[in-house]
Amino acid sequence: MPERVFIFDTTLRDGEQSPGISLGTREKLEIAEQLEKLGVDVIEAGFPATSKGDFEAVRRIAERIKETTVCALARAGASDIDSAWDAIKDAKSPLIHTFLSTSDIHLEYQLKKSREEIIEMTSDSVKRAKGYCKDVEFSPMDATRSEPEFLFRVLEVAIQNGATVLNIPDTVGYAVPEDFAELIEAIFENVGGIENVMLSVHCHNDLGLAVANSLAAIQKGARQVECAVNGLGERAGNTSLEEIVMAIKVRADRLGVETGVNSKEINRTSRLVSLLTGYPVQPNKAIVGRNAFAHESGIHQDGVLKEKSTYEIMRAHDIGLVDSDIVLGKHSGRHAFREQLERLGYYLGEEELNEAFKRFKELADKKGTSLSGGDIEAIALEYMRTEGQQWKLTGYEVHSGGKDAPPSATVTLEREEERRTERAIGDGMVDATCKAIRQALGIDAELISFTVEAITEGLDSLGDVTIQLDVGGKRVVGRGVSTDIVEASARAYLNALNKVPR
Ligand code: KIV
Ligand code: ZN
Repeated sequence: MPERVFIFDTTLRDGEQSPGISLGTREKLEIAEQLEKLGVDVIEAGFPATSKGDFEAVRRIAERIKETTVCALARAGASDIDSAWDAIKDAKSPLIHTFLSTSDIHLEYQLKKSREEIIEMTSDSVKRAKGYCKDVEFSPMDATRSEPEFLFRVLEVAIQNGATVLNIPDTVGYAVPEDFAELIEAIFENVGGIENVMLSVHCHNDLGLAVANSLAAIQKGARQVECAVNGLGERAGNTSLEEIVMAIKVRADRLGVETGVNSKEINRTSRLVSLLTGYPVQPNKAIVGRNAFAHESGIHQDGVLKEKSTYEIMRAHDIGLVDSDIVLGKHSGRHAFREQLERLGYYLGEEELNEAFKRFKELADKKGTSLSGGDIEAIALEYMRTEGQQWKLTGYEVHSGGKDAPPSATVTLEREEERRTERAIGDGMVDATCKAIRQALGIDAELISFTVEAITEGLDSLGDVTIQLDVGGKRVVGRGVSTDIVEASARAYLNALNKVPR
């Protein structure tokens, strides 16, 4: 029987520390539920001491999640640990994760503490966490730049005070696989009591080595990997969940371990996280990028047509990508549409489904050809989570402008009996359209990011726009799909503004 490697997901904590990401409680709950479906072992739900919002989100996740361990992060110190416990105490399987820097650089410049003070803080904080919770994880931050002898001492103190998991972070992504493997080996050889706890690793991707370092650690006996969906996380991100899980699965012959993840949920999880965070997935991203299973060169295509294994080491099906050759056209009914969505893994509420189906019909009519699985998925993403959405874009007209006339747009929005029409000028047609929508709703919003993707190839492809806005300090993400880029942008903009809590 292969040994099990535990998957500790930190998308909602370290992943949320990616620049520009700020998820609300509703989005976090949705991601946490999907992570449970994916089969991760631990969900690090957040850092409760940092804000009321984070505390509440962690508390709700702890309440909602049925089987998976729910973890809260806390700096070493009484008040952080107390609020972490308060947030997760109702979880079926709670875990407190406390951390403290051990490198001289951090001690001298950031914490201004001596090594003896660090030892004392480690002992006090682990003891305090253990007083609340039977499962306690301790992380010596910046472990890979810490003096090894001091690091071993701190780890031993954590074990003596009740830590059940020791997590070794490569906080700044400095290690290369050989270093990291040596460090893990040295920890097993030099830390008293290590055989009684779980050894975990947490790698950052500053040199693009997070997955390689995590694999090197597994080969030396680490049995938990911390990772995030789509590789999200501080700076260049964390170990990517989908990459580590698939590396373990595809190279089981070499690694001899397994995870409890249901790899068929990977694609759906990646899409959901991308949708809710507003972070697009790069097309050539391993495992979940749009091109990960696309063969471009004639030689490769020829090989794959003859026998898939000539150029494929895993099947698209393994990560939950279903046959996207299934197409629907303007004569397809609501039932077929719903079935196709469910095959793709999207379950929409009745109201969302009705709206999505109407949009599908409009687009199928406009395109005059059938819509692919990718097109249908993009429509689903625009309508997911819009139950009760009020404002609809019922009309728009744009002028690209000329020598003395700036680009302008007129939009009409409707909500039940209400109808608003506004005109605005802007730097371009998209800018003018978004301004007109803002004016119509009387909401001030700052654009954080704007991405356009063509879903399928060809000039008649649907454009898929993702927009992230900051509205009074709150981030909202919207998605819009159309054959026309200005309309897709307007829909995405409105989709985001409709999510602003009123
Ligand atoms: O990168 C890091 O050191 C962390 C710790 C809190 C584990 O995220
Ligand atoms: Zn980290």
